[in-house]
Amino acid sequence: MIEINNLWKIYNKRTLERTNALSSVSFKIKKEEIISIVGKTGSGKTTLANILLGITKPTDGKVILNNEIIINKKSKKRNLRKITNFLLLSFQYPEHQLFRITVREEILFNSNDEKYMNELIKNFNLQKNLLDKSPFVLSSGQKRKVILISLLIQKPKIIIFDEATSFLDPKSRREFISLLKKVNKKMKTTIIFISHNIQDVINISDRVVLLEEGFLTKIGNPKEVVDFYLKGGTHGKK
Ligand SMILES: Nc1ncnc2c1ncn2[C@@H]1O[C@H](COP(=O)(O)OP(=O)(O)OP(=O)(O)O)[C@@H](O)[C@H]1O
Ligand SMILES: [Mg+2]
Repeated sequence: MIEINNLWKIYNKRTLERTNALSSVSFKIKKEEIISIVGKTGSGKTTLANILLGITKPTDGKVILNNEIIINKKSKKRNLRKITNFLLLSFQYPEHQLFRITVREEILFNSNDEKYMNELIKNFNLQKNLLDKSPFVLSSGQKRKVILISLLIQKPKIIIFDEATSFLDPKSRREFISLLKKVNKKMKTTIIFISHNIQDVINISDRVVLLEEGFLTKIGNPKEVVDFYLKGGTHGKK
């Protein structure tokens, strides 16, 4: 569905701080799949997410959606409008994504679709009386559900989760993973899951991408890619 084609990102190009965050990264994201991106700190995962979201411009390369280039080094805001709603990000700390006075306002901030809101609430087993409460009094599990609902009500085709499970205890983590699987199955949302937690990655993914120092060095079956990664990746093979 989305084709990432020969993507490069070089930060601080003309200085000593020059960093090749992404080097010639190409792969396709299939419709309705859960694809994870793994790799050590600084391997380029967040950079890739930020390019897809239109937050960062690539130094070179393009992102193609339905035969149309939606992102390249010349991407203008005009092109990026096509991405909005199509692709959304869930932050690492849910608290940072909650701003409104009530849960209802939070969910309906980017949509007026109360009917769909009620359907989603039912689907996520949230009590209706929570709608008039402040998001801040919710448990962290409930907060995560509210955030997911406030994203899903915008009917995105893709949601990116960048380290969304890193600060959860093992039980909340398992619950969140099964929630995401449910979202993927029921709402047919494509999920890009970025994580350091290998167990989460194996549990959730249809496919996994490995980034090593900005290079895509392996893509495919979760177990195979994770095994390769845990054995040291490209360097481990030598
Ligand atoms: N805004 C920036 N300016 C300069 N260099 C940056 C910037 N953002 C990232 N980098 C550098 O680009 C490389 C890739 O960073 P990125 O944040 O994409 O890695 P990551 O895989 O998400 O790491 P982590 O697992 O720690 O989140 C790193 O060397 C980083 O220092
Ligand atoms: Mg990151």
